[in-house]
Amino acid sequence: MHMRLTALVLAIILALPYQPSQARKVKKFVHQTVAVPQVEKKVIPIETNNTSLVLLVHQNGQLETAHYGAPISHPEQFLGAGVNTEDYNGFRGASYPATGGRYIGEPALHVKYADGTHNTELYYVSHQVTSREGCVTTAIDLKDYVTELQVRLVYDAYLAEDVLVQHTEILNGGKAPVQLLNYASSSLYLDADDYLLTHFYGAWATDMQMESEVLGHDMKVIESRRGTQATQGNNPSFLLSLNTREFSETSGEVVAGALAWSGNFRLSFEKDDAHRLNVLAGISPFSSAYPLAAGNTFVTPEMIYTYSFSGAGGASRNLHRWARKYGVYGGGKVNPTLLNSWEGAYFTFTTETLLRMMDDAAGMGLEMFVLDDGWFGNDYPRNNDDAGLGDWEVNVSKLPEGIEYLASHAHSKGLKFGIWIEPEMVNPRSNLAQAHPEWVVQSPGREIYQGRNQWVLDLSNPAVEDFVFGIFDRTMQLAPGIDYIKWDCNRVVQSFGSPYLEADQDKFFVDYCQGLYNVMRRIREKYPQVIVQCCSSGGGRVDYGALKYCNEVWTSDNTDGLSRVYMQYATSLIYPACIMGSHVSTVPNHQTGNVTPLKFRFDVACAGRLGLELQPKYFTEQDRITVDRCIASYKQYRDLVFGGDLYRLASPYDGSYYGLMYVSPDKRRAVVFTYCIHFEPRTVGGKVFRLQGLDSQLSYSVVEQNVDNSCWWGNSSTFTGDFLMNGGFNPTLYGLYTSAVFLLEAR
Ligand code: GLA
Repeated sequence: MHMRLTALVLAIILALPYQPSQARKVKKFVHQTVAVPQVEKKVIPIETNNTSLVLLVHQNGQLETAHYGAPISHPEQFLGAGVNTEDYNGFRGASYPATGGRYIGEPALHVKYADGTHNTELYYVSHQVTSREGCVTTAIDLKDYVTELQVRLVYDAYLAEDVLVQHTEILNGGKAPVQLLNYASSSLYLDADDYLLTHFYGAWATDMQMESEVLGHDMKVIESRRGTQATQGNNPSFLLSLNTREFSETSGEVVAGALAWSGNFRLSFEKDDAHRLNVLAGISPFSSAYPLAAGNTFVTPEMIYTYSFSGAGGASRNLHRWARKYGVYGGGKVNPTLLNSWEGAYFTFTTETLLRMMDDAAGMGLEMFVLDDGWFGNDYPRNNDDAGLGDWEVNVSKLPEGIEYLASHAHSKGLKFGIWIEPEMVNPRSNLAQAHPEWVVQSPGREIYQGRNQWVLDLSNPAVEDFVFGIFDRTMQLAPGIDYIKWDCNRVVQSFGSPYLEADQDKFFVDYCQGLYNVMRRIREKYPQVIVQCCSSGGGRVDYGALKYCNEVWTSDNTDGLSRVYMQYATSLIYPACIMGSHVSTVPNHQTGNVTPLKFRFDVACAGRLGLELQPKYFTEQDRITVDRCIASYKQYRDLVFGGDLYRLASPYDGSYYGLMYVSPDKRRAVVFTYCIHFEPRTVGGKVFRLQGLDSQLSYSVVEQNVDNSCWWGNSSTFTGDFLMNGGFNPTLYGLYTSAVFLLEAR
């Protein structure tokens, strides 16, 4: 009986029609399409003196990158080109590809609308061209053909430098908020047989290591998710050698680019099935689906790129010329030589220690003294790195006479005075951490991890912006005539989150970086003259975003002469020498243990902004002869380092020698640096360096610096530019870490 009942119940259940408990009811609707607006076909040429980017507007409004490279005299010839409607991969060559429509590649723009949909198809609306001295700006307005999403692509073409600077403005013209899932600054479409990508990776004390690879199909991504110290892992820059698998300093077509952003970034290189390459550059979308309210505009950071027809060297010179004139705060101006207290004194000093260091600095002919970490904190004195950050008052037991006393001593010796701060950070052992726990970057209920015993302050919070600005401002008031601030930032963001942003956590990474720039902008309004060094455990913030406000960077915490050769070489591929803080330190080197001759260390440091970072009282008399000579000669030629054109003569990655030279714009003066970085026996005969960038018809006197006996047979004689450039210059650099610096002057 029981069995029969069970069978009956089962039979009834099976007979019932399936009804999901929460079935979605799709409303009956008729699919209505909006017609894609038709526009007049046109070309938009964006030209510099030696390059041309041609954008093509198709009849259906699509904007395509038709060409980037050599100038094209009549770009309207592109008008005949059609759209490939057989293109299953979407719209190849789109100048700013958006997710949706036919496009299925990596998007520059990906918008999620309030109704949950993801399709955007941009069509051309209009464009305007304006100009100012040396620069022509083309702004192109695009619009989605269904929603009210609008995009403005802005290209600044720097004529003489052959540099394009692009940014994008995204306007939510609709009535509901949208979310930006991808929002690149730029998209660059290239067409070549091969692409050799050169980029830069690193870690603390091994900043800016160069790496090259031939791009295969699909995607290569270079990204930072570090929040702060964004460039210590990867740098937001690259070079692409086209139609080759070899890196060349002097020949071939090279596109180089750098993103001006100090936060999370993403560069992607997507090689499609037609072997064409789409390069996207912008803020990393990692945890940053940015909400854009109705009526608001999001402005992306700028992407800077150039096209060279003379290898990597030409690309670097274009970027450097642009950077000195437009991209670096105070770019191209000579910054003072200095003695920095860090490696010479670390946290352990008294007023006496510092006065003695200043006296020595003045005696050596240096021009500034910089007091590094360790000068602040009383309740939590900064005697090591586990306390004091956040409490920016002068430590009265170390420096009872205060900073004013030190600065006025420096000034009385003819030295400028600089000081270190790390205003974005806080040690848990500080009054600040106790007073404002809500200012610390954190995520509810989670451990706030420490790095170097410190936490990060939440610059997405305007109150923290004010606080950070206040630190800079008050430090400037510590003494009349503070000439230089070293702004440090010694850890990455982890357990990210902002108590201030509440439910808007998606904004954290972007707003942090914008908060940093807000502070820097205020600083520059109030203190236009102060020299600011941007440091982040060395090279953790080497990018053109920070350099808009900072005169120089601390290239790396690694001051070993040999390590610096590699890092300075790689940095020079994208950034000009005027930004490179390079210091001579003691041996064995504190980071690597390596021992290199004092002159080698000087000859390396003199290729950037020269400084010393050691305790000068330990110099022997013999050392002082070298030191005084090197500093004096540097002052004779440093205008070339700061403002000349760089030519790299030999790569440290290729062999035993490294060489570079800086040439004045009129080609009448040059300084040449040469180094032996791996042992080469006397018996093999030395290295011929082919100089570059000289005037082949001019005659130059060639004088080696800082030595009694020159290592070149031709020293102090006069040679024609063509002789020097085509094979006669062969200084004998036989021994490991031998080096020589030559000054060339046209007669
Ligand atoms: C960082 C910087 C160094 C030095 C120390 C001070 O590591 O990169 O140059 O200023 O901090 O703590």
